[in-house]
Amino acid sequence: MKEKKVTKIGVLTSGGDAPGMNAAIRAVVRTGIYNGLEVFGIIRGYAGMIEGDIFKMESKSVANIIQRGGTILKTARCKEFFTYEGRQKAYQNLKKHGINGLVIIGGDGSFRGAQIFSNEFDIPCIGLPGTIDKDIDGTDFTIGFDTAVNTAVEAIDKVRDTADAHDRLFVIEVMGRDSGYIALHSGIATGAENILIPERQTDIEDVITALTEKQGRKKLVNIIVVAEGEKFGAAEITKIVTERMPEQEVRMTILGHIQRGGAPTCFDRVIASRMGYSAVECLIEGRHNVFVGIVNNRMHFIPLNEAVKKKQKIGEEWMKIVKILST
Ligand code: F6P
Repeated sequence: MKEKKVTKIGVLTSGGDAPGMNAAIRAVVRTGIYNGLEVFGIIRGYAGMIEGDIFKMESKSVANIIQRGGTILKTARCKEFFTYEGRQKAYQNLKKHGINGLVIIGGDGSFRGAQIFSNEFDIPCIGLPGTIDKDIDGTDFTIGFDTAVNTAVEAIDKVRDTADAHDRLFVIEVMGRDSGYIALHSGIATGAENILIPERQTDIEDVITALTEKQGRKKLVNIIVVAEGEKFGAAEITKIVTERMPEQEVRMTILGHIQRGGAPTCFDRVIASRMGYSAVECLIEGRHNVFVGIVNNRMHFIPLNEAVKKKQKIGEEWMKIVKILST
């Protein structure tokens, strides 16, 4: 069967925002217009699609946004899109505008919605991995990770200054509901003494033993970076360490949503621009229902349904590096 030609495309951001989403929107809009397509912005992700919050975008709609965090299209996590009735409403709204192709910038949950929608209503969808968590398999990078991790590094460096001044132990929570990548990278980059992540079982006795050994040789300044989704959580770890090591002063810092905001790094702007450009090329060339990743610095196209199943694994060697370098 011959593919229908894509002439009008919609672009939306969905799920948690990630720095670099604006750079991706800009690339989609400008590449679309360059190729003679009409481009429509959809506000608040799938929620705006259901409500019909859709507007025509011009080249100037995306002027002066490449350096801005957040997303000019706003974003949402939309439960209604996971009902058939919700998707039906969304389809009717796309039809009103004649939109026959979609670019979805978001995480694996957003891709799952796109896959179902595309199967039901025959609207080709292209996903762009936009999430600070870097928890999508099939791509070396996701839009926003580099910025978030650099924000975390800057903050942890500051905490280490005060930890050092007082000989304190800090438990620092970074984002990552299901993923330890921000913890792992920011922890390695700041010389953290331990990194606790959801992908690996935390052995609290190991944590205490390592700290006691350090205490024995008067190494009192310690940073433990804990991913949000780690099974104990930063508060519980702080409590346990405080109880078990009464001579050690312990404090906790939760970095929270500062990791989601701010100007995207050069790296995130560049990958977002490449991915946005590539998404439009995919729609034009008929390479549909994939998400665009980057592997070994080359564009990589993965079927949307495969993106939703996998999570990245963090191998033993990473933890070995942490242990050896933080003695
Ligand atoms: O998925 C990105 C992320 O920032 C996670 O790391 C975090 O757990 C979650 O979003 C927070 O979501 P919300 O902003 O809805 O609280």
